[in-house]
Formats: sequence, C-alpha cells, structure tokens
Amino acid sequence: MKIVSSTIELNAALERPTLADLTGLVPTMGSLHEGHLSLIRLARSECSRVVVSIFVNPTQFSETRDLDAYPRQLERDAELAADAGAGVVFAPNAEDMYPDGFETWVEPSETAKGLEGKMRPGHFRGVATVCLKLFNLVAPHRAYFGWKDAQQTAVVGRMISDLNVQVTLRLGETVREPDGLALSSRNARLSADERDRAKVLPQALRAGLAAHAAHQNAKEAALAVLADDPQLEVEYVEEMTAHGHRLLCAALHIGTTRLIDNMRLEEST
Ligand code: PAJ
Repeated sequence: MKIVSSTIELNAALERPTLADLTGLVPTMGSLHEGHLSLIRLARSECSRVVVSIFVNPTQFSETRDLDAYPRQLERDAELAADAGAGVVFAPNAEDMYPDGFETWVEPSETAKGLEGKMRPGHFRGVATVCLKLFNLVAPHRAYFGWKDAQQTAVVGRMISDLNVQVTLRLGETVREPDGLALSSRNARLSADERDRAKVLPQALRAGLAAHAAHQNAKEAALAVLADDPQLEVEYVEEMTAHGHRLLCAALHIGTTRLIDNMRLEEST
C-alpha cells in the first residue's frame, strides 16, 4: 500500500499501459479529408487501437445555417477511416450525446478568448464539452488533434491539464493543397473562382513569416497581402502562443465561406 500526496506521485504510483496496448482517439466532424486521415495514420502508428469519432457537434455552432450546411457522409467516411487504420468509428446522434435535461458544460476561459473565441461566442464551450465527453466515453490514452485549429488545441490542452484528464494530447501538422490552401471540409463550398482566390490566405501567412524573419511586423505584412483582394472580408490576423509555439493566425470570408489557417512563427522562449 502506498500513500501519495501529489498528482505527480499519483501518476507514478498507478500502472500505465504498455505501448502495445494504447488506444488513440481522433475526434472529427466527418467529411474526412487528407488532414483527418493523416491524424488517423499518426494515431495508428502509435496506438494498437484507433477510435475515430464522427459527430457534427451542434453545441459548437452558433448558426443553425452553418450546422445544417455541414456535409454528412458517414458511409464514405467510415471506409476512409478504416483504410487509414481506424478500428472503431463512433458516430453517435445528437440525442445520444445531448439527451433531454443535459445541463453540464466545460467553460474554457483565457485560451478561449480572442481569435475564434471572439468571433464565435460559445464555440469553445461546445468543443471542450464534447471533447471531454468523448474522452470519458472512449477512455483513450492519446487524443489526436490538428495544428490547423491551433486555438482549439490550446483550449483542449488546457482542459486536459486543468481537469486532470488522463489523456495525452498529440498534434498533427496541417495538410495543404499544392497551392498552400489548408485542407478543410469547408473548401468544398468554394466556387472555382473563390477556390482560386483562397490561396491568398496561406500566401498572406507566409508573407507574415518572412516579415517576422526579417524583424518586421508579421501581422501588417499578412494584412498587406490580403488587401490585394478587395472582395475578401478579413476577420482577423493575430498572433497567439500554443504549446510553446508562436503562431500567426488568420480568418477570412470568401463569399459565404469562412476559412481559418495559421503558421508557426518560431518557438516561444
Ligand atoms: P474537424 O473540423 O472535423 O477536425 C477534426 C480534426 O482534424 C481537428 O483536430 C482538426 O484540427 C484536424 N484537421 C482539420 N483540417 C486539417 C488539415 N488540413 N490538416 C491536419 N489536420 C486537420 O475540429 C473539429 O472537427 C471539432 O471541433 C472536434 C474537435 C471534432 C470537436 O467537435
């Protein structure tokens, strides 16, 4: 028998699974593309069991229009997930996840302020709540998230640490099209002309990185590139720190489609 009096000692005292016995969870909202599949492959390379959740989480959408427009294609997704290494696809319905009387929420604070949190009030409350529910349901040892949604990884990482959730966060690099546009299920909503113009987003971020490397203002350089297309509606260009990295993040609207992206400026000190 041991008496332990700190969270670190408790961790050391408990038996941990061997590497051969790890479960990895890749939470998604479906409509899977190479970005999701790269996370599933990463999970499969590290874990013996991979669970992929596919759930268009209503509580993280502020507009029903956006929620309704979200593409749903379970059969195709399940096949792609299996090919990439998923052993289980968990695709619950909204009533199962949020039955009548549901009232308990995870309310992230500082990390959820600004950027996406400012533009989408309540968004990260929905994300953090559904992620905690998925962690409790699947009990994964590792959970896989993409750098693409950098602020989301910061919110989930903070929640894991604040609430002592027994899961290790693993991050996958952003997968991009040849012209630099980050893969996103929202890209499918772009017209041919909009899709072509969308490449300005990674171009602007790259200009920001170049300016930063030259000791100039990254945000201003990125905004100058975005200003070339007067039809774009820029929501924000901001810097943030996540997991020890300084990032340049941006969000914009092309027509009715909202796109976000970020790139790493440097390691923070
Ligand atoms: P979704 O947008 O489906 O994304 C699922 C995961 O895939 C996220 O971790 C996201 O960062 C990652 N991802 C998206 N595009 C990517 C790309 N181009 N390259 C690499 N990874 C990419 O994010 C969500 O769903 C939801 O908020 C969720 C976490 C599932 C909670 O509902």
